[in-house]
Amino acid sequence: MNMTTNLKEMVGVKAAEFVTDGMIVGLGTGSTAYYMVEEIGRKVKEEGLTITGVTTSKETADHARALGIPLKSIDEVPYVDVTIDGADEISSDFQGIKGGGAAHLFEKIVATYSKKIIWIVDESKMVEHLGKFPLPVEVIPYGSQQLFKVLAEKNLHPVLRQKDGEIVRTDSNNYILDLHLEKITDPHALANLLNSLPGVVEHGLFLDMVNTVIVGKSAGPVIIHAR
Ligand code: A5P
Repeated sequence: MNMTTNLKEMVGVKAAEFVTDGMIVGLGTGSTAYYMVEEIGRKVKEEGLTITGVTTSKETADHARALGIPLKSIDEVPYVDVTIDGADEISSDFQGIKGGGAAHLFEKIVATYSKKIIWIVDESKMVEHLGKFPLPVEVIPYGSQQLFKVLAEKNLHPVLRQKDGEIVRTDSNNYILDLHLEKITDPHALANLLNSLPGVVEHGLFLDMVNTVIVGKSAGPVIIHAR
């Protein structure tokens, strides 16, 4: 197990402490959220924790189901008490980029209906400004080549996400255009622009959303109250 994996496990286990009996819990996606799901699954099995999970991807749904965590869809619950999820970058003013795992559409929907949002990250994800990590934009395949040209003309440097020579498809069967921006100076303006473009389903800017960040450091997890 390498150092980063250790930090991911540390924050995943720590975040599960925020989950108590009776809660409706949004279960995030990715290699850090994996450990939170594992720990909640352990508590359900070994400690009789009673929760309802709302998953943010097929991957997390399969994982949670295998652990015996009771699940409902976001449309079957009145709200979500707390959502715990990873992030790709968190800026010093607690704005985030998500979607490295192509799950940001469902992640943003579940986060939107959550009373509290906790992000769990190893310390490498904490940055001054967003943008080194390419910004994922989920787009409908129809018209995506036109949209690609529009984004390129606006100097947003889109790259169609592919894996093993195949175009990556999201859980909703859409494409991802990753914007290679290096530095996002005005995240709200960029979010507004992306929201205005037909064919954009959702982008990975998660602005003014997170309440608490748990950062994995070698000395132990650090809990930061963002807002
Ligand atoms: C999934 O699309 C993402 O938003 C993840 O939450 C994010 O990429 C963090 O993933 P890792 O914990 O695997 O880095």
